[in-house]
Order: sequence, then C-alpha cells, then structure tokens
Amino acid sequence: MAEWLDIMRASELPLNTRKAIVVSGTPILILNYENTYYAIRNQCTHQDLPLSEGEVEGGIITCPFHGAQFCLKTGEVKAPPAFEDIETYPIRVHQDMLQIEA
Ligand code: FES
Repeated sequence: MAEWLDIMRASELPLNTRKAIVVSGTPILILNYENTYYAIRNQCTHQDLPLSEGEVEGGIITCPFHGAQFCLKTGEVKAPPAFEDIETYPIRVHQDMLQIEA
C-alpha cells in the first residue's frame, strides 16, 4: 500500500531548484518549478539516462542528452527520441515536510 514518505523540508528546495534522490532504489527528481513541486522519475525513457540536468521551460523538461521532452505534471512525452512517458509521483507539503507517495 502506498504511503507518504518524508523527503526533505520544503525550505530546503527553494524556488526553481531541484534535487535528485533515490527512494527504494528508484531515481526520482524533485523540482520546485514556479512555486509548484513536482516529482518525476529521474530516468529518460530513451536510454535510461538521468534528467536531473535538463532545462525546464513552460512546465516541460528537456533531456540533456538527446533532447527528448516530458511534461513535469503528467510525465507525458512531448518530443522524440523518447516515445514512452516517464513516471510521476504525487508530492505534497505536510507540516513543512515535502512528501512523496511511493
Ligand atoms: S537519453 Fe534522454 S533523449 Fe536520449
């Protein structure tokens, strides 16, 4: 059964910053983008490389390796060479703790 896991204090992730973490062996990228928190799998579906250094614009992250793009909110693939969506995870602030559901 899924449960909310404490990741870090919300104050540790200022506006427009990000942090790569691993939860139960799964690489996850947490972002504070324009004052909204997102949690996505930190692994591009093209060649399984990390998205953590990718540029974000308009709610879309661009893979730094070959340019695939994904929606931060839904994980939907928006540009090739990837064709599969990435996983996203519910994220919330609870008593100043950032939590994801995993
Ligand atoms: S690994 Fe991301 S586009 Fe190739």
